[in-house]
Amino acid sequence: IDTTIPARNRTQDRNRERESEAISAGASAGFANTPDTDPSLPANRDWAATAIAKIKKSDKGQDLINAAKITTQDQLDDLLGTLASGATGWAALPPAERAAVLARTGQILESRRDELIEVMASETGKTISESDPEVSEAVDMAHYYAELCRELAAVAGARFVPDRITMVTPPWNFPVAIPFGTTAAALATGSAAVLKPAPQSRRCGALLAQALWDAGVPRDVLALADIEEGELGKSLITDPRVDRVILTGSYETAELFRSFRPDLPLVAETSGKNAIIVTPSADIDLAVADIVNSAFSHAGQKCSAASLAILVGSVADSRRFHDQLLDAVTSMRVGYPDDPANRMGPLITPAEGKLLQGLTRLDEGEQWLIKPERRDDSGRLWSPGVRAGVRPGSPTHVTEYFGPVLGIMTAGSLDEAIELQNAVAYGLTAGLHSLDEAEVQTWLDRVQAGNLYINRGITGAIIRRQPFGGWKRSSVGTGAKAGGPNYLVRLGRWVRADGDA
Ligand code: ALA
Repeated sequence: IDTTIPARNRTQDRNRERESEAISAGASAGFANTPDTDPSLPANRDWAATAIAKIKKSDKGQDLINAAKITTQDQLDDLLGTLASGATGWAALPPAERAAVLARTGQILESRRDELIEVMASETGKTISESDPEVSEAVDMAHYYAELCRELAAVAGARFVPDRITMVTPPWNFPVAIPFGTTAAALATGSAAVLKPAPQSRRCGALLAQALWDAGVPRDVLALADIEEGELGKSLITDPRVDRVILTGSYETAELFRSFRPDLPLVAETSGKNAIIVTPSADIDLAVADIVNSAFSHAGQKCSAASLAILVGSVADSRRFHDQLLDAVTSMRVGYPDDPANRMGPLITPAEGKLLQGLTRLDEGEQWLIKPERRDDSGRLWSPGVRAGVRPGSPTHVTEYFGPVLGIMTAGSLDEAIELQNAVAYGLTAGLHSLDEAEVQTWLDRVQAGNLYINRGITGAIIRRQPFGGWKRSSVGTGAKAGGPNYLVRLGRWVRADGDA
């Protein structure tokens, strides 16, 4: 639960920050979140222009990905055999040594911030304002998991037995922070890891593996594997040498993995259908800004995104709320990340299927307040849309579209609004805008979601301050919150001093 603004100092000069980062990283001086770059500062404006110029031409990481292609069962067997033997030495290292490698990786990622942004924007269309904080998040994970690794080692009276091999299968929507955080966590505990990047963001995965290798993770402990989904992917999941899979993706994918191997130890962060409630006591200016950011940043392609706003009582008829919302949405510039003025980027692929329906069709009783429009021939660029009149139980209420479309629901009371917020299969993030303490308490007592945000946006969880993970169908398997104190202890297995598991 977080009610305050993020801790990162967003106005800090990036060059000055780099110096202090270099001094603090790697030491046991404690963990502090890494600041993002502020492009409004003159020095950083030049930086942004240079980074943007490189986005279109970028092919960094391609050689690594070409070398990581696995196309046959024999290649896969060799790779797992190598990792299984490498795992023994890695697990036997003093945890402080593994922590030092991770902290070094944090420094390397910081020093390669520009390159990571370039490849992220080039592969996925993520704007610089979204990709820069993502690098900060990865750097944070390196240092935070290093700290946790040292703490884990200090627990007396028990022994931690790491998994032998962890398979890491991340998504394309956070192509740096999520693959890095999940791989780094597995490595921190002493497991070997095979990182299979999402097909849409392979080169990001390659740069992350390179950073870990450069920091000292041996090649027989971390493998980058570009494996086709299908029989070979299934074969990796079902191989008995793979002790655990860390998946970030859809609930359906988690179920598919479970169908391949019913006893699969799985840590899966899955889908979301998240709403922000606005009560009559709310600060309307703040509520509108937070709804717009949470719904449309990264074109709504976040599991944490707000795809519903639930307006309570008089807010439903508030002219001020509606005028501000519509002004904010219609003035949002849409386009590719090579123009820094663009606030909302493209979809990862042309809209089709469920998402196309979400962007074009209305359910019964709904009206477009702003109809999404296709902005170019690629089918990837759409303007943001807002629909009102969303009915309880309708597809708009319960379906995760994963795109830039916000639905508005109304409720007669806060109780009714909470019922609507909870009446979905998922429970990842949830927001409340209210300045009334009693309302806040009622909501906290009843809302069913992993990450709760009061009077602020509901995306962009900050490592350690806001451990990230959900309830219900937003979490499958050994649910543990990423970037929080329990994440590492949920990987591997504890053995008591007397030897019992
Ligand atoms: N951790 C990401 C967020 O909070 C998904 O938006």
